[in-house]
Amino acid sequence: MGYSMEIYSAAKKSMENRRLLAEQELDVRRDELVMRIPRVQKIEQELVHISVAAARSVFSGGDKESELSALKEKSLVLQDELKNILKENDLPENYLDPWYNCRECRDTGYVDGRMCTCMKQLVRQTAYEELNRISPLSLCSFESFDTGYYSKEKKAAGDMSEYDYMSKVFRFCKRYAMQFDEYSEGLLFSGKTGLGKTHLSLAIASSVIENGYGVVYVSAPNILSRLESSQFSGRSVERTEDEQLLQECDLLIIDDLGTEFVTKFTQAAIYNIINTRLNSGKPVIISTNLSTKELEDVYGNRMVSRIVGVLRKIEFYGSDIRQMKKMKK
Ligand SMILES: Nc1ncnc2c1ncn2[C@@H]1O[C@H](COP(=O)(O)OP(=O)(O)OP(=O)(O)O)[C@@H](O)[C@H]1O
Ligand SMILES: [Mg+2]
Ligand SMILES: [Zn+2]
Repeated sequence: MGYSMEIYSAAKKSMENRRLLAEQELDVRRDELVMRIPRVQKIEQELVHISVAAARSVFSGGDKESELSALKEKSLVLQDELKNILKENDLPENYLDPWYNCRECRDTGYVDGRMCTCMKQLVRQTAYEELNRISPLSLCSFESFDTGYYSKEKKAAGDMSEYDYMSKVFRFCKRYAMQFDEYSEGLLFSGKTGLGKTHLSLAIASSVIENGYGVVYVSAPNILSRLESSQFSGRSVERTEDEQLLQECDLLIIDDLGTEFVTKFTQAAIYNIINTRLNSGKPVIISTNLSTKELEDVYGNRMVSRIVGVLRKIEFYGSDIRQMKKMKK
């Protein structure tokens, strides 16, 4: 696992809202029922009195046992009466209990101190929405990836047409996403602008999230300037949280490597992130429109040979699809 703190706290907040909503709905149901059948309120009040009396009896001297069993008897009679009222009015037995979304955790998100499956689902959903906010996933899915944009005439690698070649890339990425687990290999997407590198990495991201993994998608310029500004403004907690997240998520996607403003700091930071992921064997997908040679010029031989040595390199071929789409409009 591994999602940002923002995502966890947003998910917690929605869970809390679910619980509150269930409780508010109960209040509305109860008020409405009491209006119709005032006896319901009487019974509920008496039940409260009984439990107060029972608690008091436990702490006082005297013949506790017979006192308690009398109270228990009274309480059972009242509960029965309430049940009957509900039944006679064709209402379900749990009409006067909160209707939680999840019975396991009663919408608290936790069972015995562990995250409930419903909470995990909510965290995933929140991560998905967050990613969607950055870049509309619906626009960058496998379904919306159209191999028709690649030429059937122009040759890509070897003897294949760009179309055949990119269809293979597409199938590979789909399979990669479907079979993704913590042992998956890392990928290096390289190629000129507008060929679908970001599109396919987002498609992989959403499918991997759907399968329950923690995915962090960042663009190199954004994350580096974020790390840099927290470094130099002394917000070290933030920086540590960010770095932890980058290191611990199941899949890290670094988009647009090489388009950031390169400084000694960014060089060291990117090396650090990538190297730590590679050392711990955690998958990373990097996209760049620089060639290996150009990457070396920017980051030096040491980092680039690590990246090229460990990640599976996937070249993208074709003509700028961003341009083609603009022309069509
Ligand atoms: N095969 C495709 N089918 C449909 N839309 C595509 C395809 N490839 C790319 N696009 C669309 O074209 C635009 C540019 O693609 P994308 O952002 O993936 O390019 P890129 O390779 O990441 O380019 P850059 O190097 O500039 O970041 C996007 O709107 C994307 O959704
Ligand atoms: Mg891109
Ligand atoms: Zn639950």
